[in-house]
Amino acid sequence: MAAGLRETATAADVTARIVRVLHQQPEVSGVELARTLGMSRAAVWKHIEQLRALGYDIEAQQARGYRLAAVPDRLLPGEIQRRLHATRFGAEIAYRAETASTNEEAARLARAGAPEGTLVLAEHQTAGRGRLGRHWVSPRHTNLYASFVLRPPIPPGAAPQISLAAAVAVARALTAAGVPDVAIKWPNDCLLAGRKVAGILTEMDAEVDRVRAIVLGIGVNLNMSLKAFPAELRETATSVLHATGRRTDRIAFAAALCDTIEEVYDRFLEAGFGALVTEWETRSCLTGRVVTVDCGGRRTAGTVRGLDQDGRLVLDGSHGEERIVAGDVSIVDGYAAVRRPRARDNGRP
Ligand code: BTN
Repeated sequence: MAAGLRETATAADVTARIVRVLHQQPEVSGVELARTLGMSRAAVWKHIEQLRALGYDIEAQQARGYRLAAVPDRLLPGEIQRRLHATRFGAEIAYRAETASTNEEAARLARAGAPEGTLVLAEHQTAGRGRLGRHWVSPRHTNLYASFVLRPPIPPGAAPQISLAAAVAVARALTAAGVPDVAIKWPNDCLLAGRKVAGILTEMDAEVDRVRAIVLGIGVNLNMSLKAFPAELRETATSVLHATGRRTDRIAFAAALCDTIEEVYDRFLEAGFGALVTEWETRSCLTGRVVTVDCGGRRTAGTVRGLDQDGRLVLDGSHGEERIVAGDVSIVDGYAAVRRPRARDNGRP
């Protein structure tokens, strides 16, 4: 295992074990906790203090012992892992209160040998990265900033399909969290009422014919208010809170995302991207719409027919059928909210 990850896992293991016991037993004495964990009561007390410092509300009563009264709104590995159904995704979690970019951190862990499914989570990113070199606005303690290490046995050219597949997983997780009308916009944005709520950035470490690792970075605007976005994004970006008026349990959402990513990824490896095309198209807001696509300097237009088995966008253009590998799509007559923010990208649908 990667050295950086081992440090995190060791610290997390201790707190996770205590938290597990506190979750299982409504009340547990210091003596019993010490016996279960094989440590002194003083050591238990020290760990309880550490958990309190993390925001756990742990009551201590002389006669009854410890009681877990409330869990903090923090993406703590133990809390996420106790909700996981996935077996690989999220099995290793590196948690950061703050980092430049979880993608950067995950790439570092991948180079050091971190296994597939390793997840980096941060409460705040100081240099969150979006597609095409843009910035991803990452306020503290409100959203999800997650990067997974993947090691797919695929040629480098197939890597964009991972982003497309991941959009399906994010849409599934949002839908399962009770968010209505989640739409995917090619290649991999998730929208609510025409505004961008989630973005995906995959970065690859590859040889000519072999992928060493892919970092799958996912940003989901969950509990941030519209005011927290920079002014230029306020008409094109959204959060689940803004769109639905409801706060999302970030811990439950992170666990659900591990589950849906693992399901979708396993299906992709088993049966190829083609097996996900129908679901992708069902969730897409582009099918049948007239769009323009900027393909790195070239601009094309047409009506979206759908997605082909390799993940290319199929357009009926003025010169017949076109298949687009990469580009930025705008809906011509669609959402009033589809506009181009100038500096930052969370809101660029
Ligand atoms: C996009 O431009 O739509 C992609 C945005 C991806 C943002 C996420 S947040 C977690 C991960 N870390 C990063 O620095 N970027 C991705």
